Amino acid sequence: MEKLTGLKKTKTAVFISGTGSNLKNLIKFSKSKESPILIDLIISNTRLAKGLIYADQFNIEKKIFNFQNFKSSEKNIITLLKKRKIKFICLAGFMKILSKDFIKKFDGKIINVHPSLLPKYKGLNTHTRAIKNKDKFTGCTIHYVAAKLDSGKIIMQKKIKITIKDNIKSLTQKVLKEEHKLYRAAIIKIFT
Ligand code: GRF
Repeated sequence: MEKLTGLKKTKTAVFISGTGSNLKNLIKFSKSKESPILIDLIISNTRLAKGLIYADQFNIEKKIFNFQNFKSSEKNIITLLKKRKIKFICLAGFMKILSKDFIKKFDGKIINVHPSLLPKYKGLNTHTRAIKNKDKFTGCTIHYVAAKLDSGKIIMQKKIKITIKDNIKSLTQKVLKEEHKLYRAAIIKIFT
């Protein structure tokens, strides 16, 4: 990752599909002095993503690509990213799996947040699986995006205790809170 030069922040796009708590966190972070990134664009695969409200709230450009035609959606996204000079991508609850070609084009510039201690529990329903297996710990991971799902190089992880009282809802909340802190820390780590 290129080092930060001067005060210029790296133009970044955040890809979402859902609630957008990580998006909100990243937008707030990007407005702080310590942030090396500037959120310039929000991309969603569905207009139903609740997180899109933050685009209006914080006055950030948003675009929806429905991925019904996967290839052309990706092609149009690439065109848009180039046009806006986006140099960094944060996936934050984005539910589409980007193609090898797309990832290659932004090699080493796409990162993701995952709600488990990877390589444990790749894919969906991580908290359900952790509780079902009576795990004592779970966590979250920020990693580079590689062609194989949830398998890119790990940037940072945070271990979180699962207590006897935890259920899926409480664990989701607990982990999300840590995701937010970890996402900021990982971005700072990448750029410094
Ligand atoms: C987070 O738990 C993230 O780790 C996972 O999807 C969830 C998205 O939450 N990939 P939000 O939309 O950022 O609130």
